[in-house]
Amino acid sequence: MHIPVLAEEALTWLNVREDGVYVDCTAGAGGHSALIAERLTTGRLIALDRDAAAVETARRRLAGFDCARVIHTNHGRLREALAEAGIERVDGVLLDAGLSSMQLDTPSRGFSFQQDGPLDMRMDTEEGVTAAEYLASVSGSELIRVLKEYGDIGPARRIADAVIRRRDKGAMNTTRDLADAVAEALPFVTGVPEETRTVFQAVRIAVNDELRWLDEGVRQAVGVLNAGGRFVGISFHSGEDRIIKNVLRAASRPFRELRPDGRVQRTTPALVKVLTPKPVEPTDGEMRRNPRARSARLRAAERLGVVTEEE
Ligand SMILES: C[S@@+](CC[C@H](N)C(=O)[O-])C[C@H]1O[C@@H](n2cnc3c(N)ncnc32)[C@H](O)[C@@H]1O
Repeated sequence: MHIPVLAEEALTWLNVREDGVYVDCTAGAGGHSALIAERLTTGRLIALDRDAAAVETARRRLAGFDCARVIHTNHGRLREALAEAGIERVDGVLLDAGLSSMQLDTPSRGFSFQQDGPLDMRMDTEEGVTAAEYLASVSGSELIRVLKEYGDIGPARRIADAVIRRRDKGAMNTTRDLADAVAEALPFVTGVPEETRTVFQAVRIAVNDELRWLDEGVRQAVGVLNAGGRFVGISFHSGEDRIIKNVLRAASRPFRELRPDGRVQRTTPALVKVLTPKPVEPTDGEMRRNPRARSARLRAAERLGVVTEEE
């Protein structure tokens, strides 16, 4: 049984009204979506996922809810998806970033270092390059940056060197090849080095350009909210949490456009009020029930009235 992370908290912060319009940017197995749909009477739910397999699963999960529609798209294209559904503004947006347990548990998707499979890692298998193709052409310095920034990996250089040595021999095609390269880079570690998980995470984030899309998704989400509408974001590592925090923080400040002479041309008032000065973390009980929740962080914001002052 799939357990959505921080489900109770997410639903509380989203403040679902039975007649409201809501977006779940990351449908996954449809767990959060179903909890939203259950609360709607005349309202609507639009659920998105960039993974076609997740879309199929979420459609099955939500089949009994006439108010729900699941769309195969990237949440970086949220405005476009809403326009196609004939919706301009919404009352709440939920975004539960990252990878689903379904994706991790399917060896043929290539996300798991614990199961051998092709080194794919694309969330949308109709777009972009596979992890094997990415690693076939990435430079050493770029790979070091990716391992440091997206995986907080200390021995990034040693691991990047080992990956590049292997791929230059044409031996970087499966998840086992990548896991073996990490083990080769850290021969003094017995068993599977703990960096293996974060190397897979970092390569996955790069292959799917996840942080850029997250930034775009949160910006568009804030932009499409009605006054009083809520944004709720759940992240699973510091890079994702930083993006959600920064986009919400920037949107919570008035924005001043300056003339070339330095005078204020226009002030756009703050778009949102941040409701969670500190991120909400799962309780010990939830972490025990759902180990995936361990690193989860939730942030929420409420859209303010929109007024534009000309100065
Ligand atoms: C953590 S899971 C969501 C789980 C979901 N909340 C549930 O209750 O089942 C994250 C999902 O977001 C999707 N995803 C990640 N980045 C995305 C993006 N930029 N646009 C749309 N979907 C995305 C993934 O394919 C994955 O299915």
